[in-house]
Amino acid sequence: MITVEINNIIEKASLKLPKPPEFGFILGSGVDVFSNINTIASYDFADLFGIKPSISGHSGSLTFGYAPGSEILIAVLKGRYHVYEGHSLDVVTLPLQLLKALGLKNIVLTNAAGGIDQSFTPSDLMVITSYFDCISPNSHGVLDILKAPPETYTSKLLDLALKLIKDDKAMRKGCYAAVLGPSYETTAEVNMLKILGANAVGMSTVPELKYALANNIVPLAISVITNVWGGKTEMGGHKEVLEVSKIASKKLESFLCQLIEEHSRQVV
Ligand code: HPA
Repeated sequence: MITVEINNIIEKASLKLPKPPEFGFILGSGVDVFSNINTIASYDFADLFGIKPSISGHSGSLTFGYAPGSEILIAVLKGRYHVYEGHSLDVVTLPLQLLKALGLKNIVLTNAAGGIDQSFTPSDLMVITSYFDCISPNSHGVLDILKAPPETYTSKLLDLALKLIKDDKAMRKGCYAAVLGPSYETTAEVNMLKILGANAVGMSTVPELKYALANNIVPLAISVITNVWGGKTEMGGHKEVLEVSKIASKKLESFLCQLIEEHSRQVV
């Protein structure tokens, strides 16, 4: 997307903010945090971008408001576009491009993911420290990507998150394998990802993470583990993903509030 088009979207929506958003939060399937912030403006993705997300649990809204009990302006994006819906990476990163144009500083990317690490349990939260990118078109093909070690990223927000979870046994950290989907994984695929060192698998997040890293937005990525492959329970499909995500959201919101608070303490 070119800057002129983003500016047109901003103009058409009369989108004016009192200051640039300090934090953005992209909420994955069923993730329900910051639903009762002190809202100053709210938009539907369909009105802004002309495209409605097609997946249930991704209502597609962008809300600006103040984080609970603070004057920190945040943007909450309920839902996202996926490559498996037939969208280009340009469309997938469109909401983030808009926030970048508004001066966004930090982005927290969340997703629902399947646990591959057998020590995980559904509703665990995993801070993503590295990833495999099997989503972005790559001239070498998927097998070449998978032969390489996972990619890592550095960010001040990641450092802060790792510091906060240091003594919290309920919070995990690990490697996220981003696959194209839309089908959930076969047993063979899960086994392959396990051998490669992935701790969780999902179908999003890495395109936005790469966009943020390339565009001076400080990123952090977190998975909500909604199911564990090969675990005691069967994978119950998208409905189960949405249910578990909702349950884990309480824990996620309290972690995110802690993150914002600690961040503002360090910035001041
Ligand atoms: N695989 C891919 N995406 C997912 C999963 C999974 O097991 N669970 C939630 N999103």
